[in-house]
Amino acid sequence: MRVKSQIKGGERAKMSVVAIVGTQWGDEGKGKVVDLVSDRVDAVVRFQGGNNAGHTLVVNGKKHIFHLLPSGILHENMTCMIGNGVVIDPAVLIKEIERLEKEGIKITPDRLKISQHAHVIMPYHKALDNAREAKKGSKKIGTTGRGIGPCYEDKASRNGIRIHDLLKKEHLETKLKNILDEKNFMLQHYFKSEPIQFEQTLEEYFQYGKRLSDYVDNISLLLDEFIKQDKNIMFEGAQGTFLDIDHGTYPYVTSSNTLAGNICCGAGIGPGKIDKVVGVVKAYSTRVGGGPFPTELHDELGLHLREAGGEYGSTTGRPRRCGWLDIVMIKKACRLNGLDGIIITKLDVLTGLKELKISIAYRVNGQEIYDVPPDLEAFEQCTPVYKTLPGWNEDIRNIRTFSELPENTKLYLKTIEELVGVPIYIVSVGPAREETIILENFFKQ
Ligand code: IMP
Repeated sequence: MRVKSQIKGGERAKMSVVAIVGTQWGDEGKGKVVDLVSDRVDAVVRFQGGNNAGHTLVVNGKKHIFHLLPSGILHENMTCMIGNGVVIDPAVLIKEIERLEKEGIKITPDRLKISQHAHVIMPYHKALDNAREAKKGSKKIGTTGRGIGPCYEDKASRNGIRIHDLLKKEHLETKLKNILDEKNFMLQHYFKSEPIQFEQTLEEYFQYGKRLSDYVDNISLLLDEFIKQDKNIMFEGAQGTFLDIDHGTYPYVTSSNTLAGNICCGAGIGPGKIDKVVGVVKAYSTRVGGGPFPTELHDELGLHLREAGGEYGSTTGRPRRCGWLDIVMIKKACRLNGLDGIIITKLDVLTGLKELKISIAYRVNGQEIYDVPPDLEAFEQCTPVYKTLPGWNEDIRNIRTFSELPENTKLYLKTIEELVGVPIYIVSVGPAREETIILENFFKQ
């Protein structure tokens, strides 16, 4: 295996541009994957989402959680880029930079690059997100409350404030004044909540702009240069396929396109430049917030998976809903993203279960179907058709090769591979970087 952290003196791969995306409802463990291969990557790039994401990394026994900074930030040799498709809460980003600097990891402007065209999450976005959710009551989406949706709304309605708007005070002043008129009207008169103060917001966000100005760059141009110099680039998806605003379980989705196709628009490169698309599949399913979830376990087993897998949101701390692996969904994710291969994470969480189930079809209106139905009501009616497999009791966390795995673990993995129809590249058997089995290096040789 050629991941540098696992082999001594491994030769460097030729240039590759690889996309890592989630195949479920987020929280698949993408952060660990990006971190694992990041020794041989020159740039890690985020292209959508914001601080609704939470990547947990365990390095040398220490847990790190990032919401905005790309997972590669712990590797000092790497350039981390935040593309125009990301929505940035500058206070959160500054806090993450300062937290790492306190720990001795210097975030210099040549290591972190932020697109001048990324949209800024403003205080009224957060206020509106929370006010709307409260008004929806039991019909709420269960958003992270970070202002993601309202910020993307303003982007689409051309009312957004972008990173470069923070750099010129008079310009920011004019924009903010116009926008606040409308937002405060909504906040005060429709949602009956507190207005946002103009002077205070102007000063605060201008200061954020000043603090971040050295990091601001043209990401599309930078990526083009990296590609021309044959550098290895990794795109890090946030959330997952079924939270995609177009192809997910709308309206229980996030407000961006989470699919690999959005890399092009969210970072500014052409589709032909992406060499490989890799999907991250958690060995079981989880979801935070509302929306349908056919394989959800409402019993002791669901609670067991939550505790064994530490399934609490890294952004909001909310308990995640847990259930069996759903192959119907993974196959759809494979189609939507054009996956070349998959990575299985958190396999160790299943250790000790007598038997394991995988959903291979759904039953709806007396019929068996093999694809996720396009409309939400039909999806809500789907009950899973399961294939049952034997479990294993052996501790797999210290295993580093496929052949050493218990026979039933191998069977579980082989079944997934056969059903999905693309190869498994990596299997994660524990949270630490070294708790990993690498079956195939997905960098071009
Ligand atoms: P928003 O992205 O905060 O608007 O939330 C919309 C939906 O996406 C909610 O169900 C959230 O729980 C979910 N969501 C957003 N980000 C993540 C994530 O990183 N992991 C898992 N769920 C997420």
